[in-house]
Amino acid sequence: MLRYDVGMLDGFLTRGEFDSIKEEIAAASAMLRDGTGRGNDFIGWRDLPAVFDREEYARIRDTARRIREQSGILLVIGIGGSYLGSRAVLELLRGELHNEMGGLKVYFTGNSLSPGDMEDILRLCDSSDVSVNVISKSGTTTEPAIAFRIFRDYLIKRYGEEGSRERIYATTDRTGGTLRKLSGEHGYETFVIPGDVGGRFSVLTPVGLLPLAAAGIDTDALLSGAEDMRKVSCDDDTLVNPSNRYAAVRNLMLRTGKSVEILICFEPRFRMMGEWYKQLFGESEGKEHTGLFPSTCVFTSDLHSMGQFCQDGTRIIFETLVKFAQVGSGMTVHPEEDDFDGLNYLAGKSIHDINTIASDATMSAHTEGGVPCSVIECEKLDEYNTGELIYFLERACAVSGYTLGVNPFDQKGVEAYKRNMFALLDKPGYEEDKKRLLEKK
Ligand code: PA5
Repeated sequence: MLRYDVGMLDGFLTRGEFDSIKEEIAAASAMLRDGTGRGNDFIGWRDLPAVFDREEYARIRDTARRIREQSGILLVIGIGGSYLGSRAVLELLRGELHNEMGGLKVYFTGNSLSPGDMEDILRLCDSSDVSVNVISKSGTTTEPAIAFRIFRDYLIKRYGEEGSRERIYATTDRTGGTLRKLSGEHGYETFVIPGDVGGRFSVLTPVGLLPLAAAGIDTDALLSGAEDMRKVSCDDDTLVNPSNRYAAVRNLMLRTGKSVEILICFEPRFRMMGEWYKQLFGESEGKEHTGLFPSTCVFTSDLHSMGQFCQDGTRIIFETLVKFAQVGSGMTVHPEEDDFDGLNYLAGKSIHDINTIASDATMSAHTEGGVPCSVIECEKLDEYNTGELIYFLERACAVSGYTLGVNPFDQKGVEAYKRNMFALLDKPGYEEDKKRLLEKK
């Protein structure tokens, strides 16, 4: 089972400080449990692993099989919560080079407005048959909408109207939005994003499960890890509950002036999980002029770029290490007869053990240098443990946000740039905004 270890925080946080926040955390945890907090119409993710619609789940598995049979490439079109979770889990479990390892290739697009990236993916499409999973809860987000227009056109030209229809799968809201309407008109197979689950909490809905199942990820194990974490945490409002303890540490850190959290992992394949974590916490907590700035590092790589700052820079940082007890299949450093590179002192040691020692050495150097560190310990790098980790982080995020005093489930701040962009692109209905923007120039 996942553990959250605060042993290394001795000297940074006192028992008194933990005592001082435990009532607030208990209240936040109870608000989540009882559905009495702000944004409580968006806490559907909380019970999802236990109540997932079995029929919808069976359809996801069948469709995943069909995608694998009909295509060598799956394009996942979506942005923010509509792609980060599935990409993060896929890369964590299959590695950043998953598309070079055989089986269905999964490419993510529609998550930027870069023509270069889209052109690259279009070029790749000719190498195999292609299916598309377009994902948008609102069904109106500009980036995936543009990408869908382009790739739908590609499919129609290549397979015809009828043929393209069988290759397009839409994951969207049950009733609203352009994508729902379009899917109805064209007969695309659709999957529902529950109305009470926001984008960044949606990885364990069809948003994440369909692409992951298509890629061969064991979604049963993923959901079962999440469900086990739900069971141990849903009714416990104390600091024994690991997600409550993590929420407490984050809030105490902010109160002592540590406003930047770095989520650290010593596995490069964790990189996109870091991006998912940044969205989850950044969009949930960064509002009303408060919140921690969530950032990530992948060590040891980033020790050679950010390590100096972590050890010795401005004292605004605390670190949370995600550690996997078992990774890989035991590759070791072999001995060389003439020890030409002086590395024989490592001969026989597994690379994983060396990585773990690097991690221990780094975290104690940072602690001694005045940077508080705590550790999320996962037993193995597999589906089950990933499910646990996802649920742990989602729940911690909700409790941490409530403790901060914000609504963790809205994201009004994201709308400001969209308004300006629509105005400058002459979208009907934004004429007044355009006038305002031009007056400022
Ligand atoms: O967490 C969120 O709600 C957002 O980040 C959305 O996931 C993102 O904006 C994409 O929205 P949509 O799925 O409506 O296209």
